[in-house]
Amino acid sequence: MPAELLDGVAVARTIRDEVARDVLVQKARGVIPGLAVVLVGEDAASSVYVRNKGRACEEAGMHSVTIRMPVTTTQGELLAVVDQLNADPAIHGMLVQMPLPVQCNADEVIRRIDPAKDVDGFHPINAGKLIIGEKDGFAPCTPAGVMELLRRYEVKTAGADVVIIGRSNIVGKPMASLLIQPGIDATVTICHSRTRDLITHTRRADILIAAIGRAKFVTADMVKPGATVIDVGINRVDEPRAKNGYVLAGDVDFTTVSEVAGKITPVPGGVGPLTIAMLLRSTLVAASRVVVA
Ligand code: GUN
Repeated sequence: MPAELLDGVAVARTIRDEVARDVLVQKARGVIPGLAVVLVGEDAASSVYVRNKGRACEEAGMHSVTIRMPVTTTQGELLAVVDQLNADPAIHGMLVQMPLPVQCNADEVIRRIDPAKDVDGFHPINAGKLIIGEKDGFAPCTPAGVMELLRRYEVKTAGADVVIIGRSNIVGKPMASLLIQPGIDATVTICHSRTRDLITHTRRADILIAAIGRAKFVTADMVKPGATVIDVGINRVDEPRAKNGYVLAGDVDFTTVSEVAGKITPVPGGVGPLTIAMLLRSTLVAASRVVVA
């Protein structure tokens, strides 16, 4: 029997509607939640993401600022913009879109962002708060979105064996931290490029999360029948017959895996839309922490 689809578009819609409602509550106390997005250079995929983030903010009734900087921007110029946004009371959340051009140092930029405005959850203060379970930080948006998807589809996590493929700071590591929190209570294994005998891990997963960045890497033989499969990947695969010359594919071979899995996210339309929804929610949370005199 084919797997049940976990509809990220529908869940993201619900979250964005909830955020829009709560934006009104903030406005009523005189706070208009504001998000600034900084884009350095003209990477095509990044431009699309940034445009979508701006539109989503406006739709939710938030204040949105997009700062576009040339590809030749120096580290000093970028840090100066971050400082300016840190000091701007109309901005409650900010992110600097990655990747940055080679002359910029992403680690230094991330550390310069006020942790209270770091709605990406990339600052070491927020990464640390996530690990020690302090709730007043920000979790990165993609793994936070996966948690919402699991929660709203009532996927059981307590005692579940979760296997994550990928150990990035943006997905794999924070995903594990979220899943082992008390109340979530999963047993987590993180696999990566040096993992021996990957399939023995993936085949015992009740929940398998793929965040590798390789198209169709997870095949049906790697999945336990009935498992929940979450595909975080979004890869461009050359396809001469497609309009743009490529199609989008996840890290999971959807066609075959969906015959084995119990639940599965599609790509596109799975985890992707949740990332923006969670970004809006984190910006709302940042604004709600502002004390009004
Ligand atoms: N580039 C790709 N995804 C992200 C993200 O979630 N945040 C930032 N800042 N850059 C990205």
